[in-house]
Amino acid sequence: MQIPTVNDRKEHPLNIEKLLENPEKLLARRASRLPLTVAPPPADHPISFDSGHAFPGVLPDLTAEAEIALTAHRSETLQYAPRPGLPELREWIADYMRRDGVANASVEETFVSNGAKHALELVCRLLLEEGDAIVVTAPTYFTAIPIFKSFGVEFIEVSQDVEGLNVDELEQLLAERRRAGLRAPKFVYDVPDFHNPSGVTMSRERREALIALAEKCNMLILEDSPYRKVRFQGESLPALKALDRNDIVLTLGTFSKLLAPGLRVGWVSGPRDLLNRMIQLKSDGGSCPLTQRIILEFCNRGRLDTHIERVQQVYGSHRDRMVAAVRRELPEASFHIPQGGYYVWLTLPETIDGDVLAKSAAQKEVILIPGSKFFAATGGSSTGGKPPKNHVRLAFSHATPSEIDEGLQRLGQIYRTMR
Ligand SMILES: Cc1ncc(COP(=O)(O)O)c(C=O)c1O
Repeated sequence: MQIPTVNDRKEHPLNIEKLLENPEKLLARRASRLPLTVAPPPADHPISFDSGHAFPGVLPDLTAEAEIALTAHRSETLQYAPRPGLPELREWIADYMRRDGVANASVEETFVSNGAKHALELVCRLLLEEGDAIVVTAPTYFTAIPIFKSFGVEFIEVSQDVEGLNVDELEQLLAERRRAGLRAPKFVYDVPDFHNPSGVTMSRERREALIALAEKCNMLILEDSPYRKVRFQGESLPALKALDRNDIVLTLGTFSKLLAPGLRVGWVSGPRDLLNRMIQLKSDGGSCPLTQRIILEFCNRGRLDTHIERVQQVYGSHRDRMVAAVRRELPEASFHIPQGGYYVWLTLPETIDGDVLAKSAAQKEVILIPGSKFFAATGGSSTGGKPPKNHVRLAFSHATPSEIDEGLQRLGQIYRTMR
């Protein structure tokens, strides 16, 4: 008998192309809903305003920490790690949360993940069934959208203003849903500090109002706050978790923006009864102990505070450069000036299509993300059922100051041909 080779695949009755003719039969529902293509990596040396990559100049030198981790801690760092994370790192994170105002943060209420996105997915695995409703802002963090969609959720979209998520509007939406006999949402997902993409920070009043509403409506709050320490202006406001009296807030944290995204270490702070269950859904043999130990060494040697000061100073100057360049090159764009974080969110005249602008910009090697990618469903009640097209998000984190000037000059040229 002749054994079929890979080249005979097409003739074989059971091949993957055939199976994929009926994706809903082959794939889990969560995968059959996903688009067939993934965006290709950007061309060589474009000007990158798209991703939340760190500025290469602020990536720390971790050689000394890595050496210690691989010598003094070899038997720990080259083994499987405890699933909730290295106990010392959990202690360090709990202390960091206490210093940030979460008075009762404890090791038992802290667990380490492979970054905040991983933690987000675990929260979804813990809480969501197909058909559940969740609340998101319009716009919202675009990477969270496919994660939520893969769980088959219904989105309730709420607008934002300069004070953040519009809590009165949410209260009204929830009352309407109750009257219509629709499901109450499981949780509200928000980025209260330097929102991605809008750059807005939620006011203290809104934070308190959101917590009060969540308590009244039996919803959890999922606070995703990777940029909290990347503040280059103004006073820090209490984290939602710091205002949480009844243990209804789950907070996602990450070392991606504090230190380096390639480390892939983040955490969840939340009620222990939820975390204990979530840990059992974490199927990775424990997050990498080597990177956890490197981070611990970095923090224990007292390097983090100085590093954060540098991060704030560098991104503050990138923000200023971006704001000046947008004003010069796109004077008709309106935007909120963020006091921290990585992004500015531009609202362009209604006739300008952000998708077209982003496509034309890519041809000139300027990469940015069109606003349409940041709406989970229709964009909310005021959009007539279609997400608005006239936005783009510009990240000022990764590009150098001169690339910011050059990139905006190219964008300005394209924009003027579209008016
Ligand atoms: C709102 C938000 N959450 C989470 C993340 C990603 O965090 P991590 O790298 O820890 O997965 C980002 C990064 O861009 C973000 O903007």
